[in-house]
Amino acid sequence: MTDRSRAEALDAQDPLAPFRSRFAIADDGLVYLDGNSLGRLPAATAGRIDDVVRSQWGERLIRSWTEGWMDLPLEVGDRLGTALLGARPGETVVCDNVTVNTYKALHAAMSLRPDRSTIVAHRGEFPTDRYVTRSVAQARGGRVWWIGEAEEVSPSPVTASVVADGLDDDVAVVLLSVVDYRSAAIADVEGITRAAHEAGAVVVWDCSHAVGSVPLQLHDLEADLAVGCTYKYVNGGPGAPAFVWAHQRHHDALANPVPGWMGHADPFAMGPAYEPAPGVRRFMTGTPSAIALAAVDEGVALLAEAGIEAVRAKSVLLTSYAVELHDAWLAPRGVELASPRDGAVRGSHVTLRHPEARLLTEALTDRGVIPDFRNPDGIRVGLAPLYTTFTEVHDGLAALRDLLHALPA
Ligand SMILES: Cc1ncc(COP(=O)(O)O)c(C=O)c1O
Repeated sequence: MTDRSRAEALDAQDPLAPFRSRFAIADDGLVYLDGNSLGRLPAATAGRIDDVVRSQWGERLIRSWTEGWMDLPLEVGDRLGTALLGARPGETVVCDNVTVNTYKALHAAMSLRPDRSTIVAHRGEFPTDRYVTRSVAQARGGRVWWIGEAEEVSPSPVTASVVADGLDDDVAVVLLSVVDYRSAAIADVEGITRAAHEAGAVVVWDCSHAVGSVPLQLHDLEADLAVGCTYKYVNGGPGAPAFVWAHQRHHDALANPVPGWMGHADPFAMGPAYEPAPGVRRFMTGTPSAIALAAVDEGVALLAEAGIEAVRAKSVLLTSYAVELHDAWLAPRGVELASPRDGAVRGSHVTLRHPEARLLTEALTDRGVIPDFRNPDGIRVGLAPLYTTFTEVHDGLAALRDLLHALPA
């Protein structure tokens, strides 16, 4: 079952296989297992950027703002939201980065519950989320109630009961990742959202590792707010702008703590006081990045064409195959699987723990296999269904197996 021919057969049966040719792949021999950090370059993006730069900027100059640039944050937001988040039109805006958007979303969420002062968050949450959570709680004279474990790369997903332990009548907001950046465990979005609502709180979901790999139904689940990035599975490029999603039922009550002119109801009125734009556009701050938004649009278009359900189906097959190879080759050599075994609660990467993870990651990179290293002992193998092949998974993990064989016992 570990033969390369099996990987080749899986590639031959893969309905998404043709999408690999839609990416600019400079070196077909490179085994790229880091799409969960920086997605590959869609082939159409270079041409699109060229047009934005040469024609829209170079020729049309300032006129391009009214010829389309100004609408991009909401237009790209709608395309992303409806294809990937289960959003309704008008609920998603693409702007800023995840850190800034988390800050805005947390403040806005706290303002929905003005009589409460606690934020519930996970100890093992991505650093930026923890730092921003602390800062927002402090600014509002509140506190953070930390749940879960910090140190362990825990393969168990965050459940409603884990969150319920932290809920009382002072909790205004719960902040959680849909997919854990370490283990890839998928939180129980539906159960946690319901438990938080029953306790009178709202939830801010960080979808950074879920968007473009795990289908979401944010509107139908009556979630409250969400943020996420577009440079991982959305393939929007390095530093691509992030998104804010907010359920339409909250729109009129949401306050952006960074009240910039672009979130104003009438930016060019240059009025004396801030008046929020209707809808999710109020989460904009300053001038949108037209070039970067065009790149996000191309990434979203590929995922929308493939269909997020097909992407998810391949993601589960890819990660399951990686788990099989781990069991056959790596576990006997001291590697520990730090991702859930159950594909239903596993996102699109697999984390492998080994005391020499840093050294092994460097050695793999030298051999043309690129995973990423996560402190202290995790090798993250990111599998992006639009372009990762089963053969790459085979070859990448075979290289790791061979390196482990060469390690001194
Ligand atoms: C779960 C999660 N949240 C937040 C961030 C930070 O995003 P940004 O650098 O866009 O602020 C990341 C980055 O990888 C992430 O994985």
